[in-house]
Amino acid sequence: MRDNYLEEYYSFLRFPSVSTDEKYANKVRECAGWLSQKLTAIGLKSEVVPTPGHPIVWARNKHRNGRPTVLIYGHYDVQPPDPIELWESPPFEPVLKDGYVFARGATDNKGQIFSHILGLQEIIKKNGDLPVNVDLVIEGEEEVGSQNLGKFLSDNREALKCEVVLVSDTGMIAPQTPTISYGLRGVAALEIKVTGAEMDLHSGIFGGAVANPAAALSKMLATLHDADGHIAVPGFYDDVVPLQDWEREMWRNLPIDPDAEMLKETGAPALFGEKGFSTLERIWARPTAEINGMGSGYQGPGTKTVLPSHAMAKLTFRLVPDQKGEVVVDCVKKHLQKNLPPGVTMEMTTGHYGPWYLTDPNTKFGKAAQRALKAAFNRDVALIREGGSIPIVSDFRNILGSETLLIGLALANCRAHSPNENFPLENLEAGIRMNQAVLQELAG
Ligand code: BES
Ligand code: MN
Repeated sequence: MRDNYLEEYYSFLRFPSVSTDEKYANKVRECAGWLSQKLTAIGLKSEVVPTPGHPIVWARNKHRNGRPTVLIYGHYDVQPPDPIELWESPPFEPVLKDGYVFARGATDNKGQIFSHILGLQEIIKKNGDLPVNVDLVIEGEEEVGSQNLGKFLSDNREALKCEVVLVSDTGMIAPQTPTISYGLRGVAALEIKVTGAEMDLHSGIFGGAVANPAAALSKMLATLHDADGHIAVPGFYDDVVPLQDWEREMWRNLPIDPDAEMLKETGAPALFGEKGFSTLERIWARPTAEINGMGSGYQGPGTKTVLPSHAMAKLTFRLVPDQKGEVVVDCVKKHLQKNLPPGVTMEMTTGHYGPWYLTDPNTKFGKAAQRALKAAFNRDVALIREGGSIPIVSDFRNILGSETLLIGLALANCRAHSPNENFPLENLEAGIRMNQAVLQELAG
């Protein structure tokens, strides 16, 4: 790894470009500026495109007729670093330990998109140009649902017309194993607030006579699943396409032990999920209803005999083909309303929504990518689906008419979204090779 590659990667990681928290908005903007300058420096024409939210960085080489156009997408925003006390080194002060760079965004997605940038840089340095027309679109709102990117795509639909989209923001099935993901789950969000009394009350004076919103909320949330891990919301599974035998078979034969790895990686005492499905099937092809956060009452040290006035929960649902976010959220709302205990009121707020994605990894371009990945890693390519979501990918199809090749570089122990996120330098280097091999193959 060249020293200046690492130094620049560190500079990128030092920006706390947390998109969800207003207090970082300036840092997000500075990060976009830095990125755009970097892209200019490697010989691309680059601009920072403002949006009502965080800006988009858009760079391209000089497009020439008669060669394919490739859109490379990534994101420079990151998840919040919390809980900060669990980091072994500060999240925005990258350090290298045993070949791994530790920092928030090291994997998701700064390391992965930066490997593409370095790949482009090397080709331009060597050949003066890229073998294909390239648009790089790097946004600052992926982690909050890409609210403004769809409009950018529509506004620039002609300029962004492309044969194929490349995204490295997914995982590799195992170290050194090139992986193409042909499916992503979607996601829909719902926030619930349950209210009882107008204020927190003395639980001795009022407890027993006034409903407790924390208890009411818990009771309601407990109706989301049955004991076998199935979602118990009527209509929830109506549009789910059943898994095909060939797919179950292919995943059973992947060169990994998913249960053992998942136990090891998570430290959970046991695995649990929907009965009748394997771990990979549960993650890649089955929907979920998750409680992401709950709050109510006194959270400080010691005890406080209080009857809380409010309780809230943040829920998200992972969606699979052919579910629709609006329909699923509607089913859940009806179900919760039906199960609302007496003595409290409830408000529900729908949050962001990102569709699932499913594509064919064996198209002309998919095959080209498979050849390139095989060459770059010197190993056979694994074809998988993913449990995570990249909301904009379905818009590449709907707005630009282009399919996306998901050629991720993250490993299961990279700790994306968790404390001590890290990225192996080996993967940064693999990404550089992969970028060059894929562009070469796509050039034909
Ligand atoms: N890189 C992830 C998506 C991902 C994660 C794909 C794991 C495959 C496997 C992306 O940055 C992400 O975290 N997306 C969010 C989207 C949401 C905030 C709308 C997600 O999946 O939670
Ligand atoms: Mn992410």
